[in-house]
Amino acid sequence: MQLISRRSFLTLTAGAVAGVVHQPAAAADPSTPTLRKAFANDFLIGAALNTAQIDGRDAKGGALAASQFSALTAENDMKWQSIHPAPDRYNFQAADAYAKFAGKNDMKLIGHCLVWHSQTPAWVFQGDNGQPATREQLLKRMRDHIHTVVGRYKGKVMGWDVVNEALADGGSDILRDSPWRRIIGDDFIDQAFRFAREADPKAELYYNDYGLENERKRSNCVKLLKGLKERGVPITGVGTQSHFHLNSPPLAEVEKTIVDFAALKLKVMVTELDVDVLPSRGNPGNADINRREQGGDRSNPYTSGLPDDMQEKLAKRYADLFAIYLRHRNSVTRVTFWGLDDGHSWLNGFPVRGRTNYPLLFDRNLKPKPAFTAVMKKSIK
Ligand code: G3I
Repeated sequence: MQLISRRSFLTLTAGAVAGVVHQPAAAADPSTPTLRKAFANDFLIGAALNTAQIDGRDAKGGALAASQFSALTAENDMKWQSIHPAPDRYNFQAADAYAKFAGKNDMKLIGHCLVWHSQTPAWVFQGDNGQPATREQLLKRMRDHIHTVVGRYKGKVMGWDVVNEALADGGSDILRDSPWRRIIGDDFIDQAFRFAREADPKAELYYNDYGLENERKRSNCVKLLKGLKERGVPITGVGTQSHFHLNSPPLAEVEKTIVDFAALKLKVMVTELDVDVLPSRGNPGNADINRREQGGDRSNPYTSGLPDDMQEKLAKRYADLFAIYLRHRNSVTRVTFWGLDDGHSWLNGFPVRGRTNYPLLFDRNLKPKPAFTAVMKKSIK
């Protein structure tokens, strides 16, 4: 743990951090308090980024990311549809740029993601003569994809989300009904991890999902992970995405999730953290991108700014979450935010399109919010 005195922290926080965003990453003042320094001895602290932030078009965003975070995930550009849009066509331009940015700024790159039911082109699941692919065809496609992508970034990607969101949200089945499962069978998960291990013997390999604070989904996840371990499937860790709201899930469930997974002797990662502050009518734990809610008069109440009392509620929520993560710093190896700043959050479009949300630590001008200060205060021991 980097020790920062309370006095220097309080004088430096808002003004100095805001100043960083106007400097290129390399020129950031080394005495400026940052998340990556504050939590350096606890866990990696990451953000999901977009191409403009890492290729120089959004230089301020890139500089802020590089100064504040020790890990990065491509929010979209390493998904199958982006990196492998057609059977014989890979598109590595963006992913190469993430790898370069990570190397230049001494950040760990996380690969997101290899096998997911979403954002995977239709051709992947198609066979001959208009029929669905056979098990053998799809396994070969999965293996080729994993070998090509993981192989290219061997030594550059620290860890891969190998399988994303394979668990069902309801019903009697543990696994989600997806083309992967329908065509290959339940062992598609084992196969994906084995192919990833063949392609990179050293990368960390993760199972990643949302809503694991829900008791039922968590216990299904524990069953899945135990099964993987019993069968000798090479898994290193589990990512709990952590798309949260101000009052849900309860903190006790957040903590229990970490404890239950750590008991399996797996590394535990918070992989997609954000806190939705807007009203929700549906199932707030369900981050399935295909879920939609209707808007309405009262669904978008903060279009001209987040009131102080709400800023404080958000700050308190983040402080409570980081208190848990720090208590479990021996098992939690990374905490990644799903986006850099409020202007670049998927929650402005989900589950209702076109709203103004405030889920992250930096505002739309890249200035630190009270939630940033609250998280930084937690790092002072
Ligand atoms: O790339 C096109 C662009 O060409 C077009 O101009 C634009 C117009 O809307 O759309 C762009 O694609 C969008 C893409 O984000 C990039 O902005 C897609 O429509 C949109 O569906 C996509 O959403 C992403 C979503 O995953 C689906 O891939 C979100 O940004 C991203 O935050 C979200 O992330 C997921 C994690 O991967 C897995 N866990 C849940 C999490 C939130 O859903």
